[in-house]
Amino acid sequence: MKRLLSTFAAMIFALALSAQTGIIPKPQKEIIREGYFRLDKSCVIYSNEKGSFNTQYIQEKLIKATGFAFSRTKKQPADNFIKLEVNPSLNIPEEGYLLNVDEKGITIEAKNSSGIFYGIQSVLQLLPPAVYSGRVTGREEWSVPFVNIEDYPRFSYRGMMLDVSRTFFDYDVIIKYIDWLSYHKINKFHWHLADDNGWRIEIKKYPELTSKGAWRGPGEVLYPSFGSGNKRYGGFYTQDQIKKIVAYAAERNIEIIPEIDLPGHSRAVTATYPDILCRRTDESLSVQGEGKNVWCVSKEPNYEMLENIIKELVRLFPSKYIHIGGDEVNYSAWKNCPDCQVLMQEKGMKEPVELLNYFVRRMEKIVEKNDRHMAGWEEIIEGGDLKPETRVYAWRGVDKGIAAVSKGQPTIMQPGSFCYLDMKQSEVERGHNWAGIVTLEKTYSLDPTGDKNLPDSLSSLILGVQGGLWTELLNKPVRFIEYQTFPRLAAIAEIGWTNQDLRNWDDFKTRLERKHYSRMYNMGISFRLPPPSITYNDGALRSELPYPWAVVRYTSDETTPDEFSPVFRGEIYTDNPFKYRFATFYKDEIISQAVMVNNVSYVYQKPSVTIETSLSFQLKFPLSNLKDYNFSTYARTTERLKKGDYLTYIFEKPVFTKRITVSTGIPEIDFYGITEGYVEYSYDGKVYIKGNEFTDGISVILPKEPVSAVRIVVTGESDGFTAAFTDLKID
Ligand code: ACM
Ligand code: ZN
Repeated sequence: MKRLLSTFAAMIFALALSAQTGIIPKPQKEIIREGYFRLDKSCVIYSNEKGSFNTQYIQEKLIKATGFAFSRTKKQPADNFIKLEVNPSLNIPEEGYLLNVDEKGITIEAKNSSGIFYGIQSVLQLLPPAVYSGRVTGREEWSVPFVNIEDYPRFSYRGMMLDVSRTFFDYDVIIKYIDWLSYHKINKFHWHLADDNGWRIEIKKYPELTSKGAWRGPGEVLYPSFGSGNKRYGGFYTQDQIKKIVAYAAERNIEIIPEIDLPGHSRAVTATYPDILCRRTDESLSVQGEGKNVWCVSKEPNYEMLENIIKELVRLFPSKYIHIGGDEVNYSAWKNCPDCQVLMQEKGMKEPVELLNYFVRRMEKIVEKNDRHMAGWEEIIEGGDLKPETRVYAWRGVDKGIAAVSKGQPTIMQPGSFCYLDMKQSEVERGHNWAGIVTLEKTYSLDPTGDKNLPDSLSSLILGVQGGLWTELLNKPVRFIEYQTFPRLAAIAEIGWTNQDLRNWDDFKTRLERKHYSRMYNMGISFRLPPPSITYNDGALRSELPYPWAVVRYTSDETTPDEFSPVFRGEIYTDNPFKYRFATFYKDEIISQAVMVNNVSYVYQKPSVTIETSLSFQLKFPLSNLKDYNFSTYARTTERLKKGDYLTYIFEKPVFTKRITVSTGIPEIDFYGITEGYVEYSYDGKVYIKGNEFTDGISVILPKEPVSAVRIVVTGESDGFTAAFTDLKID
C-alpha cells in the first residue's frame, strides 16, 4: 500500500510539475504563464552593472551552447533581450532576485550582484539542459517559459565542506566542484585543508609543511593510508592556486572558509615539526587511529607558529571566518605531559577539556587580532566560554547545534546522519555507516532549525546548513567525489534555500528525476543513480524500478552490466538467481551500483575452521569472528601489517568447492583491507600453492581438489593502522 501511495504521489507531482518550473532549489514564489520566449541570433544582453562578471558569465554560457552572438548593448533594448538590472532599493532579501520572462525577453532584477547571479542560475535551469554542456549541439530549441519568479534564500549560509587531506583533489577538480556548487546556489565552500593525512596549503614561512607534510608513503614522514599503498601520495595547493580558486569562487558568490584542523587531527604537522608535540608522548591513538597528532598546549613557540600560519591564511582568504577545527582531540597526550599538567594547575583546571578551551581561546585571540572571527567544530563549546562571534559547526547531531545556540553561538548545522556525504547511500554502496545510511530522502528530511518549539532568539542563531564530504573512502572508484556529492547536495541546497513549508520530498524527487538528472548530466557530473530493487519469487526475478522511466540492464554471469547488456523487461525465470546482476542506466553513461537479488541470500558453505596467525587482534574484534560465517562481523588487528605476517584458515576436513573468495577489510565498507599480499592454499595441509595477489583487498581461489587450508601472506606494510579480516566465502 505504501508503495502504491508513493507511486500515486509521484504521479500527482509529475502532473503538478507542469505548473512549476522544476528549478532546484525550488524558488519561493513562481508563476508559469502560457508561452515561451525564444532565444535567437539577434538576442542581446543588457546590464547596468559596471564591469560585471555576471554579464560575461551568462554571455559565455549562452554563446558556447547556442552558437549565437549575444552581443552586449549599453542602451535599454526594446525587445529580444536578456536584462540584468541591479537596483539597490529593491525590496527583496539579500541574494534574492526577481525574474520575469515574457514575449519581449528575460529580465533579472536584484539588489546586488549575488542576486543577479542567482537569477542567472534559475534562467539556466529553465533553458534546455544542454546549456550546461559547453558545446553547440544544434538540436535544441532555446526557449524559456514565461514566468514570474520572486526568490530569495531561507538561510544566509548554504555550504559544502570538502576534505582534501585524506584524498587530495587537484586544482582543476576544485574549480569544477565550485562550478557545480554555484549551479545549486550554494554560497560557502568550507575547505578542510589540513588533517592527519596531509597538509595541503603552501605556507611560505614553513615550506616543510608541504615539502614533507603533504606526502605519505615509503620514506615519507606520513604513513601510507586510505589505499595510497606503496606509492608516494599527496599534493598541495600553491598560494597562487589558492588565490585563483578564491577569486573564481567569489565571482560565483561562493565564500571559501579555510580550515586547519587543530589541535588534534594534526599528524601531518607534528610529523613534519615534532617539536610541536608534548614533551612526553604516549602510544595512544585518536579515534581515527592516529598517534602523536596533538599540539602541546603549553609550548609558547606553538602559538607563534600558529600565528604565523594564520597571518598567511588571512592574506589568502578574504572570508570573515577562519575555521580551526577543534574536533576529536585525544587528551591522553596532555594528561601525560608534565608541562600541560603544570598549565592546568596554574589555571586551576580540573579537566583536559578546559585545556582545549584554553587552546581555542588563544586561537580566537590570534584570529581576531587578524580582523577575522574564529569557527570550529562543536567540541569547542565544551570546557569554557567563547566569544559571541565565534561560529560553531554541529556535526554529531542537531541537538549539538541546539546546545551551541543555547550558549549563544552562531551555528551551522551539519549533522552527520543527514549531511555527511561520506556515509553510504544504501547497504550495498561504498561509504561509511557510523552515522547511518544517509539516503537522499534522509538528507532532504533535515530542517536545520529542527525543533519547532525553538524560540526565535535561538533559531535565528542557526545560520544554515552544510554538506560534508570526508574522503578516506574516496580513493576509488573514479569520480566517486561526484557520486557521493550529487544529488545529495541538491537536497542540501534546497534545505538551505527554500522555506520549509514549500519543501516536499515527492515534489523534490520528481523535479530531480524529470529535470535535474539531465541538468547534472550536462554539467558533467557523474551523479549517483539509484540501483533497482530485485526480488526472486516463484522462480522469477523481478525489478522495482527506482523511478518510472529508469532503464535497467542485466547480466547472467556475475559480471557488472554495461551499456551493451540487455535491458531488463519485467521478469526472468531462472533456477539460479544469484548469477544475475542489475544496474540502472542513465543515457548509457551514468550507471548505478550493480546489485543482485535482495530478498534471498546466497548460502555459502560453513565448514569448521581453526586459525593460525602471526598477528594479534583487538578484544572487540576477535579471531572467533572469522569462524562464525556471519559476514557482518570481522576481526581487527592491534597493529599495522608488515612483511611476513600471515593468517591461515585450517579446515577440519578438506572442503569440496569451486571457488573461495578471500575478502579483507571491514565488510561493506571496504576499509583496512590488505594492500600488499597474496593467498596460498593447500590440498594436503603441507604443500601450499600460490594464488592471486590481493586486488582491492580481495583474492579469489579456484581450486581443482578439496582444500585443506587457505593462507593470507603479507608481503609489505599495509596502509592502515589496523587490518580487518573476515570469514571465507566458500561456494
Ligand atoms: C568531524 O567529523 N570530526 C568534524
Ligand atoms: Zn604538552
